[in-house]
Amino acid sequence: MRSHSCGDLRSDAIDSTVLLSGWVDRRRDHGGVIFIDLRDRSGTVQITVDPDLGAEAFAVAEHLRNETVLQVEGRVRARPDESRNERLATGEVEVLAQRLKVLNAPSRNLPFAVSVHDDEQVREELRLRHRYLDLRRERMRRNLSLRHQTVQTARRFLEDEGFIEVETPVLTRSTPEGARDYLVPSRVCGGEWFALPQSPQLFKQLLMVGGLERYYQVARCFRDEDLRADRQPEFTQLDMEMSFLDQEQILDLNERLIARIWKVVKGVELPLPLPRMTWHEAMERYGTDRPDTRYGMELVGVSDIVADMGFKVFSGAVAAGGSVKCITVPGGNDKVSNVRIKPGGDVFSEAQKAGAGGLAFIRVRDGGEIDTIGAIKDNLSDEKKAELLQRTGAEPGSLILFGAGDTATVNKALDRVRQYLAKELELVPAEAWNFLWVVDFPMFEFNADENRLEALHHPFCAANPEDLGDDPAQWSERLPKARAQAYDLVLNGLELGGGSLRIHDAALQNQVLQTIGLAQEEAQEQFGFLLEALEMGAPPHGGIAFGLDRMVMLLAGEESIRDTIAFPKTQQARCLMTSAPGGASDKQLEELHVASTWVEPEEN
Ligand code: AMO
Repeated sequence: MRSHSCGDLRSDAIDSTVLLSGWVDRRRDHGGVIFIDLRDRSGTVQITVDPDLGAEAFAVAEHLRNETVLQVEGRVRARPDESRNERLATGEVEVLAQRLKVLNAPSRNLPFAVSVHDDEQVREELRLRHRYLDLRRERMRRNLSLRHQTVQTARRFLEDEGFIEVETPVLTRSTPEGARDYLVPSRVCGGEWFALPQSPQLFKQLLMVGGLERYYQVARCFRDEDLRADRQPEFTQLDMEMSFLDQEQILDLNERLIARIWKVVKGVELPLPLPRMTWHEAMERYGTDRPDTRYGMELVGVSDIVADMGFKVFSGAVAAGGSVKCITVPGGNDKVSNVRIKPGGDVFSEAQKAGAGGLAFIRVRDGGEIDTIGAIKDNLSDEKKAELLQRTGAEPGSLILFGAGDTATVNKALDRVRQYLAKELELVPAEAWNFLWVVDFPMFEFNADENRLEALHHPFCAANPEDLGDDPAQWSERLPKARAQAYDLVLNGLELGGGSLRIHDAALQNQVLQTIGLAQEEAQEQFGFLLEALEMGAPPHGGIAFGLDRMVMLLAGEESIRDTIAFPKTQQARCLMTSAPGGASDKQLEELHVASTWVEPEEN
């Protein structure tokens, strides 16, 4: 059906006869001569239809609608100088049509224009409903090619490093990663359920017990959790597991993988090794375990300076075991008014969304004088003022925003305000690739709602041997405070991937499951197969998984992972094109031994 692809034609094809097939991107009638931009996956080329050269072809061209599937036979010729198009890869040539054949004409109106020339801002809902049409557009075509190139580069790299690709089951038992499971009822085993994997975690560990040594998979994962721009209910991990490597070796291999991807896909040379920061330092300086290091405004602890200055909000927070921290907004005096920081203001509301009651602030004026409000003003001595300015590095024109309360809330609020203001004040440099390994995560965090410890990553991470010691009798006491040998790769404030060394000792694994509150029988019931395997010669092993959709989102400069997935779901976890999820017949439900308890909510 074709001899060439549209986007590949260059001046070396001049004078040859070509056969092209593609879509009519647009048609322009220039009184007598008709120009068609013919588009296929490779790009577009101009077709010129001159009535003097073929009345039949011209008659077809006169009635072409956009997005008609068209076959063109013609001769390539150089475009006259004045009509060359430098912005188009094929802009030096055009195809003089001899024969046009309509392969398929659209028989209904298209919901939106495909051509880049229309530059139409199409609602996402409409794009998702007619995704096949959206995929023809330049943006999605580019993103999916980039996704393919990313996966291809990763595969080549990993295969050269001795990894083999293994597929793990999708109908399986729960693989806990902290989200809700998607469940599938079993018809054959009545009353029982498969869970779709939240990750291939346990299987990849069992592959190591199985002696595979180096595994990878482009793995589909399923998590029923609240959706955001960087989360989908089903998403893809670039998943890996390795035996006989320590943490250093795993990080080294993975940063070489990342550097290769960035080199091939973006042409960017990343300086290795990538920077690292401990979890503790990240929390102190950024209030989050995925710091965006592209800009400053770091969090600074000032509890010691302000604790006894007589300002209740501050002293109360410190007395209750919490803290007072601040961020310094350069030039914030002019850019951020009092109204914005007080109740009802946008900056206030950011802090509030993170659970803070509000933000105290001071403004540094010329000559280092500081302007304060209310109680801070009355109580800050000259000495404390000087100390504060020195520690925060605040200069004339700076605004200092304070958070006070329990440390977790203070961190969360200032992290949120920091990110919000950086964006708003345009402090985020374009085209910066700030990678950061965050290491030394704690094994557990306290879940106040359930009054128990829970695994920060998942309960299969190995503890740091320095914290655990050699004596199993001390494990139960030492584990809750131990650091894990776990690492996350953060890029520009987004978690790109995470992994850890794993526990390969059954007794320790058991102990960790008990620490998160699983009784012996429950542990056996849920993870007996793993514990058993660990007793049969499990090698030391560890791994990592990258969020492929997120990686492509960042590489493509997109704001949402939906733009990196061919057929994504909405925030309501629905596919607008197929209308999934949908109902099931009574017969199907009966066969599956399930009944729905769903009641349609009454409309107000
Ligand atoms: P984790 O849960 O950190 O680790 O997931 C790894 C990476 O997957 C991406 N990710 C998501 N992407 C899109 N939508 C989601 N809902 C979503 N959830 C996670 C993130 C994340 O960094 N088994 C471990 C890995 C390991 O220990 O080897 C795991 O799944 O980019």
